[in-house]
Amino acid sequence: MNAPPKRLNAVAIRKRKRPASEPLVMLTAYDFPTARALDAAGVDILLVGDSLAMVVLGYESTLPVTMEEMLHHTRAVARARTRALVVGDMPWMSYHAGISEAVTNAGRFIKEAGADAVKLEGGLERLEVIRAVVSAQIPVMGHLGLTPQSVLKFGGYRVQGRGAGAVEALTEAARALEEAGCFALVLEGVPRAAARTITEAVGIPTIGIGAGPDTDGQVLVIHDLAGFGGEVVPRFVRRYAEVGKTLTDAARRFADDVKAGRYPDESETYPE
Ligand code: KIV
Repeated sequence: MNAPPKRLNAVAIRKRKRPASEPLVMLTAYDFPTARALDAAGVDILLVGDSLAMVVLGYESTLPVTMEEMLHHTRAVARARTRALVVGDMPWMSYHAGISEAVTNAGRFIKEAGADAVKLEGGLERLEVIRAVVSAQIPVMGHLGLTPQSVLKFGGYRVQGRGAGAVEALTEAARALEEAGCFALVLEGVPRAAARTITEAVGIPTIGIGAGPDTDGQVLVIHDLAGFGGEVVPRFVRRYAEVGKTLTDAARRFADDVKAGRYPDESETYPE
């Protein structure tokens, strides 16, 4: 029997800086069978993203998703993985109201849900929280740029890092997150040049989404990649499948067979 693959940890991920290392591959996962499929494909990091709110639970933004919902889905993902690092995404208002509540909530992802690390959004305004979570021995992934939990402040989902001083501000924030102890950093919705500058400025790996090809890794939401839901496809998404259409087609053929009396047949029926 083959030995199970060696589990990745945050210390190993932190070393994955290009060009010395292969690019990091991260995908979101929210349930057991999907997580198992992505883990089997050799994906390095399974992010139980708060995008759960939109792509699985049907909310209009990520803001309504709760700690309990995030923990429920993180548990399913953690049960499925053999090699990938599992990162639980801290939902909006789980780390904003106070340091102690933030550390408690981060700890719940590890203790109750089996995650290996947490991710949280924000820059200089989050340093104190990040330091406290890291000092509780919990690996933290940062997230800068178009941070969806700031949609109300941004007035929509707008590319960040454009205009005078914007790249410098993001670079300063990225350096501060590294200094605070983050082991990796998501860069979302920033121009290629900004992502390259930030990537070169920090010693931790950057993982881009809508940030061009020069980051140390790439992440996509699995439903975007798989063509499962979502009529609006962002510019940076590459569709590798059309799972939504395949499912609709399968359900239609099942309905046709049932209505025509073709399902079930003898081979699908228990004998006396
Ligand atoms: O919630 C999420 O899916 C994310 C990724 C887009 C990075 O934060």
